[in-house]
Amino acid sequence: MNALTPLERVHTNPTSLARTRERIGLITEAARRAGAYVAGAAHRPVAPTADAVAGLSAFRRPLPDAPRPAREVLAELDAFGSPATTVVTHGRHFGFVTGGTDPAAGAAAILAGAWDQNPGGASPVAETLDAVACAWIVEALGLPRDAVASFNGGATIANLTGIIAARDALLARAGWDVARDGLAGAPRLRVIVGEEVHISALKALRLAGIGEAHIERVPTDGVGAIDASAFPTDTDHLTLVLLQAGNVNTGASDPFAAIIPGIRERGGWVHVDGAFGLWAAAAPTLRDQVAGVALADSWATDGHKWLNLPYDSGIVIVRDGEALGRAMTSDAAYLPPDPSAPRNRGIQISQRARGVEAWAMLASHGRSGLAELVEHSCALARRMADALATGGAEILAPVVLNQVLVAFGDDATTAAVIDAVQAEGTTWASPTVWRGRRAMRLSVSDAATTSDDVAAAVAAILGCWERTRL
Ligand SMILES: Cc1ncc(COP(=O)(O)O)c(C=O)c1O
Repeated sequence: MNALTPLERVHTNPTSLARTRERIGLITEAARRAGAYVAGAAHRPVAPTADAVAGLSAFRRPLPDAPRPAREVLAELDAFGSPATTVVTHGRHFGFVTGGTDPAAGAAAILAGAWDQNPGGASPVAETLDAVACAWIVEALGLPRDAVASFNGGATIANLTGIIAARDALLARAGWDVARDGLAGAPRLRVIVGEEVHISALKALRLAGIGEAHIERVPTDGVGAIDASAFPTDTDHLTLVLLQAGNVNTGASDPFAAIIPGIRERGGWVHVDGAFGLWAAAAPTLRDQVAGVALADSWATDGHKWLNLPYDSGIVIVRDGEALGRAMTSDAAYLPPDPSAPRNRGIQISQRARGVEAWAMLASHGRSGLAELVEHSCALARRMADALATGGAEILAPVVLNQVLVAFGDDATTAAVIDAVQAEGTTWASPTVWRGRRAMRLSVSDAATTSDDVAAAVAAILGCWERTRL
């Protein structure tokens, strides 16, 4: 008689044995298809073809009445879904601030998908990796060692979390308890931002109950950083200041060292939106760009941008962990009591274990690999700007980090070049408006990008420009 396999020993019921075998086969098949996608996507246009997009109509059908084998569902996803993706993981996508997926993090995501853990829901591994990854991030960014960090869905949520912690702490200093009394009738907060504040921070303010009428805007300089000499010096203990590490168009950071100490001495709170720019702090040659950022009270950053983690992954970090805890605590009798659980350090209660991928990326790159990722991206951004300028394009702002802003003559021509580049397929760049002018915005944020990718992208962009002039 044949000996039982380990699987057969565990699953004595034939139905459960068959289901488990099917599940293992599916995971293996999904990984095989993911590998084939990676192999094929490298040779595909960055933007999907019109035919591939048209093929998505296969998905638009009524909710099926009856079940269907999962293997067929996976095959259909791959057949119609994979070709209709924008290729963001092969180094020639420079749109938005889209970092590709780090190989270790991408592989960890497959494993974490099988684990299906909820940090804070009695998962020792998710809680441990969340805690370790958060501590590593705080350390890599040079922020105060005893600051408290937690993962969330992205910089917008991270900004919202930091702003709510700030709001509640400032109002508490004025004797107002938001948890008990809400916001109606609360003392008025003074909120100061730079003219170049990101839309995400404004959205977060609105969601936190702080409307436009409360917001003062301070002028910015030629690269979009706050002009420190124009910053108010009469702030008080009811002042919330939002600064920025990494202007979304230029990559420039606000002058933290000049602004933060005075605000904090006068009792105010400084929150920094560092969705991508905060990572300059992890690179010795770029750290000066964000000098003084560690003096703030709270910070928001993204994992899914420059850290090359899969979507979605944001991180909020707060100097006064107790203030964060007071704003976010959500304990219930059925939940294990744990002040460090993500639900007590952020907005969500249940969430995926984002720390697994962050841990894998940081464990794989280490401090020097992280610095190399950031420095290499910036070097390639400078190279791209130089090559485009040599080709006759106008670089609209000095390249201080990983963002390149380019114009090709008048607004209509620049818009036509961006459309042509997106359709041509060698590379992909986003449109933006900078100081009233239309611009192409190239963000170098993927560790996969090589100097060959930059050369190919520049040649394609200049070629598209040339064709718009014919
Ligand atoms: C400076 C800045 N803040 C916030 C965000 C929003 O980040 P997310 O899309 O992860 O919420 C971005 C996105 O580009 C950004 O550049």
